[in-house]
This record gives sequence, C-alpha cells and structure tokens, in this order.
Amino acid sequence: MDLARKYANRYGYPDGDIHEKIAEHHGMGTDNIIMNAGSGETLRVAGIAFLGHEEKVVGVEPTYTSVYRVASGIDADVIARPLLPDHTQDIDDLVRVTKRNYRDVGLVYVVNPNNPTGVIVPDEDIRHLLDNIPEDIPVLIDEAYHHFIRDPRYSSAVKYIKEGRKVLVTRTFSKIYGMAGLRLGYGIAPEEMIDQMRTYATGSVNALARWGAAAALEDPEYEKWIRDTTIALRDATMTELRGQGFEVIPSECNFFMVHTGRPASEVRAEFRRRDVAVGRDFPPMLDYLRVSIGTEDEMKRFMTAWNEIFPDGMTTTGRR
Ligand SMILES: Cc1ncc(COP(=O)(O)O)c(C=O)c1O
Repeated sequence: MDLARKYANRYGYPDGDIHEKIAEHHGMGTDNIIMNAGSGETLRVAGIAFLGHEEKVVGVEPTYTSVYRVASGIDADVIARPLLPDHTQDIDDLVRVTKRNYRDVGLVYVVNPNNPTGVIVPDEDIRHLLDNIPEDIPVLIDEAYHHFIRDPRYSSAVKYIKEGRKVLVTRTFSKIYGMAGLRLGYGIAPEEMIDQMRTYATGSVNALARWGAAAALEDPEYEKWIRDTTIALRDATMTELRGQGFEVIPSECNFFMVHTGRPASEVRAEFRRRDVAVGRDFPPMLDYLRVSIGTEDEMKRFMTAWNEIFPDGMTTTGRR
C-alpha cells in the first residue's frame, strides 16, 4: 500500500512487476499476457479484435453478456444457444453450430463456470470442443470464477494455449481477490492473439490495482480463506433452501441460482423492500433468482428475508 501510494503520482514507475508475476503464475511469457482495467475490458477488446462486421460469436444463453453486447455494437451477430435441461452448456450443439456457420464465426465464447448458473464445463468437454471445431477459430474461455471451483472434472484451459491452440483465457482480480473496484483483469493467449488485441486496449491499469494484485498473488493463504469461507456459506445456504423444497442449481461459484417458481422479479422486489439486494433477471431463466454470497451477517439477513417471503417453503405454485 505504501509503495502504491509512493508511485501513484508518477507515469511508468515501479508497479510491483505485476505483468511478470502474472506470466510466471501461469508458466507463460509476458508476451502471452494482456492486462486490462478488469476482465470486462479484456472481453470487450477480444470482441472487437476477433469479430468482424457481420461475423458471429457462438455461445450459450444465459451467460455473461459483455461479448454479446460488443458484437451488437459492431454489427456482428450473436448465436446464443440454450442450456440443456440440467443447466449445463451443450458443447455438441456449440460444435454443430460453429461448423455449420464456419465461414462467419469469428469467436466461440464459453464462460466456465457459467454466470449466472455457476455450472462448470468439464475439461473433457472443453477438449472435445477444441478438437472438433476448425482450429483457426479463436475460442475465448472466461475463467472469472476459476478459484472457487472444487469439481475435479474441471481444469483451466491455460494448458490448451501451451498446446498451441487458438485459445484466449480471461481471469480477473475482481472475484476471489475482492478487487472489483480497483479494476484489473487479464487475458492469456498465443502471442499473435495478444498482439491483435493490444491495438484496441487502453493499456490503462492504475498503480493501486497493480500493487494490489501483486500483493494478492503473494498471499495464497488469504485466497484460500476467502474461498473456504465463501464455499461454506454458499453450501450452508443452498442446503437450507433445498431443505425447504427448493431446487438449487449445484454451483461452483460465489453465487448460486434458486428456482423461485414465480417471476424472480417479484421476489427481488420483496427483497428490496427488506433492504436486501439480490441478482437481476437472466432471461430466459426468469423464475430463477441468482444469489451472491456475502458475509455471514449478510447471508443471515438474506435467509431471514427469504423465510418471510416464502414462509411455507416451496409450494407447488411457489406462492404463499
Ligand atoms: C463471467 C464474468 N466474466 C467477466 C466479468 C467481468 O469482471 P471484471 O471486469 O470485474 O474483471 C464478470 C463480472 O461479473 C463475470 O461474471
């Protein structure tokens, strides 16, 4: 913090070697890393760099929509495929659609684990996707919630970059490291992809974020504490809701989705009246509510409000 303050009033002064530290963390070179003001910026830059006019981005719905919004802004198209009934991403379907539109697809986008469901794509499905679509199509794998995952079927896609595939993995300091307001995210990819993206990036990551991230990478114990505490609170809340008869989608993230059986917008309004903020709508899953894990006190407040809103647990209609 002292060093961040010391260098914050200078251009180009020491920055905790954060670029080198990130590269080292992943066993990659600095030319394989692009740092941005949040991974949201990395996603936007990737959309602009890899999607041409009237080209298509292939992914699922619902998911994190930043790349889709970029596509709309540059007259590219979005092919958003539905999730399977168990809320997983239908990788065979993504392969089929990508092959069918081969000439027009500029980017395939997979959020792993997905936001808002919290569901992972197992490593064997990622490999299946990469093995079965034309190898010149860039695949963006958004690993914003990587650190919360415990499911052994998951593995980071960084290894596919090392295999020489056209893969861009994005990561962020906003989630596990709690630095959302400081804005630092990054992409890991083959050098040519990073070069293509650099043209569109501002390169503007502030001194506080750089020093904060360098400190975060050097503190695995804090990271573990955040992960363990978040997961314990998440699992306890999910278990309580399931005990009341609600369907809760198994999550590997710091949030989960619960089936409210009625429009989540109504339930959200009830929470708002009790001064509790819950997730927005994620069409087409309009009767599912996304709940982010907060502190122990916040989760207590959430459960108190929930029990007032659903005093009889889950009834067939979801209504009182
Ligand atoms: C899947 C996913 N990717 C990327 C982001 C962007 O995060 P940031 O710009 O803070 O790194 C978010 C934020 O909610 C997200 O959920």
